[in-house]
Amino acid sequence: MQTQITISEDYTKQSSIVVVALSPKDIPAKYVNKAERDYIQSAFEENDKRSFHINKLTYQLFVELPQKKDNPLHFNEALRVKAATLAKQATDLGIEMLYVVAKKLENNALLAIAEGLALGTYSFDTLKTDKKPLVLREVRLLAKNIEPKDIQELNTLVEATLLARHWVNLPPNYLDAENFATYMQEATQLVGIKTEILNKKQIEALKMGGLLAVNQGSPTPPTFTVMTYKPKQHVNTQPIVLVGKGVVYDTGGLNIKPGNYMNDMKSDMGGGAAVAAAIYAAAKAQLPLYIISIVPATDNRPGQNAYASGDVIKMYDGQTVEVINTDAEGRMLLADALAYAKKYDPQLVIDAATLTGAAMRAIGKWGIAAMQVKAAKALTILEVAGEQCSERLVCFPMWEEYGEDIKSKVADMKHLGSAEAGHITAAKFLEKFTDYPYIHLDIAGPAFNTSPFNYRGVGASGVGVRLLFHFFKLWASSKQLVQ
Ligand code: BES
Ligand code: ZN
Ligand code: ZN
Repeated sequence: MQTQITISEDYTKQSSIVVVALSPKDIPAKYVNKAERDYIQSAFEENDKRSFHINKLTYQLFVELPQKKDNPLHFNEALRVKAATLAKQATDLGIEMLYVVAKKLENNALLAIAEGLALGTYSFDTLKTDKKPLVLREVRLLAKNIEPKDIQELNTLVEATLLARHWVNLPPNYLDAENFATYMQEATQLVGIKTEILNKKQIEALKMGGLLAVNQGSPTPPTFTVMTYKPKQHVNTQPIVLVGKGVVYDTGGLNIKPGNYMNDMKSDMGGGAAVAAAIYAAAKAQLPLYIISIVPATDNRPGQNAYASGDVIKMYDGQTVEVINTDAEGRMLLADALAYAKKYDPQLVIDAATLTGAAMRAIGKWGIAAMQVKAAKALTILEVAGEQCSERLVCFPMWEEYGEDIKSKVADMKHLGSAEAGHITAAKFLEKFTDYPYIHLDIAGPAFNTSPFNYRGVGASGVGVRLLFHFFKLWASSKQLVQ
């Protein structure tokens, strides 16, 4: 269940409504009486008050006077954030349907409000006995010239984001590698995606040493899920391949995580959830792109046979890797998936992973650490997508010198560098398994919120889904597909 966004040409009197205007005088007369307008005007002028809630007894009236920003994308983000507060207020007040009118705003600003409302009503209560049904079930946009297709697409994008959040929020005893794969398959098949799940036997036959090493300490088998969306009309002959880290729970393995560090490690498949939900959205919106999403999945546990520091692992592509710390497990399975992606002769590969504490420390929940190899222009487009939906990127270098950090005395490479720039040395490690234009996204910072964070909510944020979807749209419409 999600809040549905719809368009409406007329306002049904006595219905709860949010009126958004840039100044009090822009508030259409039909929504406020004189006393209300005078009150709003003076509170705005004297105290810079910009949010008003007027209880009309039979319905609720909200008036918002957001401050215009020079950058329209920043303005839209402020609207999404504000809308999340409104979603909470509406829910607390038992409002089931809410009109939104914003006469002087661009359509995309109105859509941003709708997006913030719809993402802001999500809560993970699957495992609660006393489940609270969704209160705010519909947001009606009072607008004449919004394309129904844009509304449909926004509903799809919200749906996909919430799907990713749901998977990430499921605790490890409800989501092992096998049922994660099944859930991804069930969802993607509904929209015409061809999904194949490789089981442990098949993974062994393929000699995916990295994924199998991490899985050694687990009581449950790994999976390797490949989702293919190839519509009849696609503008890219070579696919875009997405790879997502699918560590359903990260204890650290034998290098077990101390203290609180293990808390919330159910979110370590956030990258996998994002690439599965993003391809779902692309297919549902029938984007003309050939896309493949790959999710290698396992938990990382210190069971009897757990892989150990000092082990040398032969990876899927035959390279050997010296294990330094079993808690740096994500790159082991991503490396196999990245090497596997070569067989598709991809135009571009993007991975998303809750990979390093270093990325989190560098930019916190505010951004995604991005790095690229042979994909500078594609990364520029991805950055634009990030600005559009405020899943912003911070680009880090991939200088050769960082590679020195992962040289091994006993194997082709170590899987972990020194304490410095851990997110970059992780990417340098992954680079060794690629030969195509490649973008690495470390989403460790924004994937999971321990306390409520505007429309991203508390718990899983679903970060990556909106970013990738916006990227797809830009990519599909760019005249000349760039590298
Ligand atoms: N899954 C973690 C990274 C992570 C940390 C994600 C915090 C989200 C929040 C990853 O597998 C990990 O454990 N990384 C360690 C490796 C280190 C101990 C060798 C890190 O980066 O701290
Ligand atoms: Zn780890
Ligand atoms: Zn991890």
